[in-house]
Amino acid sequence: MRLRKKKNAPARFARCADYTVKTEELPENFYRYFSPEKPLELEIGSGKGRFIVTLAEQNPEKQFIAVERVFDCLVMAMEKAKGKELENIRFFCLDAGGLQEFFPRECADVIYLNFSDPWPKSRYAKRRLTHRRMVAAYLPLLKKEGKICFKTDNRPLFDFSVAEFRALGFRLEELTYDLHSTGAPNIMTEYEERFSAMGVPINRFVAYPTEQTWRLLAAKA
Ligand SMILES: C[S@@+](CC[C@H](N)C(=O)[O-])C[C@H]1O[C@@H](n2cnc3c(N)ncnc32)[C@H](O)[C@@H]1O
Repeated sequence: MRLRKKKNAPARFARCADYTVKTEELPENFYRYFSPEKPLELEIGSGKGRFIVTLAEQNPEKQFIAVERVFDCLVMAMEKAKGKELENIRFFCLDAGGLQEFFPRECADVIYLNFSDPWPKSRYAKRRLTHRRMVAAYLPLLKKEGKICFKTDNRPLFDFSVAEFRALGFRLEELTYDLHSTGAPNIMTEYEERFSAMGVPINRFVAYPTEQTWRLLAAKA
């Protein structure tokens, strides 16, 4: 995501400090901030946050975590939540590859990957959030009966991700190459709005890990 560096981002972040948790406190104090009784949903690569903030606003009974590695984007997302005075969402400036260090195993009911960076050159394939190496890094956070929802405008990335998730034994449901024509409930992300306005169809699947998935990933660990 191209974004002009914001000089005042640290001060803006400080004004939204209630919307994060110091990483030094994690994972030990995770359940001081999140209830184990309530559903918890996590977006990785949340960008400017419209999707996850809207989802949190629409579902006050659930808890939400947004992970984004670009600080300036994260700050903009935090400000959206603060503007709506939401109490059920927290934001973390972290890389997907290191999430196990900060979040407990099996804490999330749903993981969302929306318009993940495609890394089109094959030498960078391992950086794709749907590459098996990345999936192995964040899957331990998902509850055994949880699901991963993935959508993208990028057809080559989508085809790669379908193959990768199938190879990992996931059961894919609601697979579509034109999400907006299905009439399924949908919250548009910033990227989604931009690409669909240009007439690009949106691909989506929902992936459920199976026994085979957990066996394969345990063998790789
Ligand atoms: C193409 S943007 C999409 C943003 C947003 N999800 C949307 O649909 O509007 C991808 C976002 O994922 C973030 N991202 C990419 N790789 C990441 C990683 N390994 N860990 C955390 N965030 C990542 C990028 O910084 C960027 O903000």
